[in-house]
Amino acid sequence: MYDFKPGAAVAAEELYHDLLNAADALTAGEPDAVANMANVAALLWEFLPDLNWAGFYRVGPTKSGGADELVLGPFVGRPACIRIPFGTGVCGTAAQSGTTQLVADVHAFPGHIACDAASQSELVVPVVRKGAVIAVIDLDSPSPARFTAEDAVGIESLAALLADRI
Ligand code: SME
Repeated sequence: MYDFKPGAAVAAEELYHDLLNAADALTAGEPDAVANMANVAALLWEFLPDLNWAGFYRVGPTKSGGADELVLGPFVGRPACIRIPFGTGVCGTAAQSGTTQLVADVHAFPGHIACDAASQSELVVPVVRKGAVIAVIDLDSPSPARFTAEDAVGIESLAALLADRI
């Protein structure tokens, strides 16, 4: 059994240190990308308060085999939109630009895709392998401005850890 639940009111640095250790322990030596993404989505949900969605979109071909887009991966939360074109919404912008998107108010973000009407703020971090975006980690919160620069740094470290494991 795994019991990675963090203590209450842990400082961000310690929280992400523990989260990364737990993610490392769960994914080390496991080659199945879906299993690793599923466990990390569950960890994000356990460790980070005030979320309504936590999970992955992977880069893959369109249904007709066309140019790459984002395809829904393992997550915790309400059912979400399955396919997101590069450059569309917060996730598609992160995938296209290869940069973290820290959005305090999703309603002010051009093209934001409302998968869950409860979402008010969002953090999306690209996962980059050998210079190419292979996935994004997406966190949504029902609270405005839920995510800080410390969250962005922490999730970027997680993305770097996972680059060769998903
Ligand atoms: N809001 C995202 C779509 C994904 S859901 O939040 C899970 C976006 O604008 O890209």
